[in-house]
Amino acid sequence: MTSSFPPHLLDIASLSQPEVERLFAAAAAPPPAGPLRGATLANLFYESSTRTRVSFELAARRLGAEVVNINASASSATKGEALPDTMLTLAAMGLDFLVVRHPLVGSVAQLAAKAPPGLHLINAGDGAHAHPSQALIDAWTLYRRRGSLDGLVLTIAGDIRHSRVARSNVVLFTMLGAREIRLAAPLELLPEPLPTGPVRVFNDFDAALAGADAVMMLRLQKERMSGVKLPAAEEYHAAWGLTAERLARAGAQCFVLHPGPINRGIEIAPEVADGEQSLILEQVANGIRMRMAILVTLYERQAT
Ligand code: CP
Repeated sequence: MTSSFPPHLLDIASLSQPEVERLFAAAAAPPPAGPLRGATLANLFYESSTRTRVSFELAARRLGAEVVNINASASSATKGEALPDTMLTLAAMGLDFLVVRHPLVGSVAQLAAKAPPGLHLINAGDGAHAHPSQALIDAWTLYRRRGSLDGLVLTIAGDIRHSRVARSNVVLFTMLGAREIRLAAPLELLPEPLPTGPVRVFNDFDAALAGADAVMMLRLQKERMSGVKLPAAEEYHAAWGLTAERLARAGAQCFVLHPGPINRGIEIAPEVADGEQSLILEQVANGIRMRMAILVTLYERQAT
């Protein structure tokens, strides 16, 4: 049976709502036994990662695939090999999945245009553009807790401008029926242009929290900043950090999300990160199930 699912996971915008719902259902089902036996996945990361790289590795292994991890800084990229040549080289070894994180916006989509049949590319983050598997994890985590995302009021706060996770989440939560997505950040950390959807901009974090069903905190992504003047850490935390006092204003029903890595005492207070309303480690745990669902769904499309 062939399926209409796209051959690659490049961004949320290239998925339909039924395809997202199919991934949610696959992630919720008991993991199938060994559907990827004989398949090979490579992680090719040109930026650091803990969650994404390890959870794709564990997801693939639990489904029966072989996994290779390529340290880009010790690969032939350092000898001038272009990214498409690295992909074609790995594909010639019989690869089925290539999970790529790269600092350039659009780099994984450009690879997908040159990918040989049978190779599935997964965008694990391209600059500040997209990180679709993380957004699917975030939305599924909240969906599991609430049963629906319809009518949701979500506050996204912090360094939105440099966040691929925020961009992917705005598209996904809009698709899944969010009533309002509040972008709360100082002016220099707001995205340009503003994303489309039920988006409202706040430059007062407390106002952005009032009545929110969930708040997603983002770290300052200094590796993608240039020319942004930031206040000292204490000053930033006072204005934009999620403290217990601030969260109390949102209410006990408000869940706290963070795609990680977290910077305690800067965008989030330790007692909030570790508190009862925090879903941060649940997001990490759900990451393996969602990435298993992504791998199986991509692989099934070529089954006959
Ligand atoms: N959320 C996320 O992408 O984390 P890593 O950078 O650790 O993969």
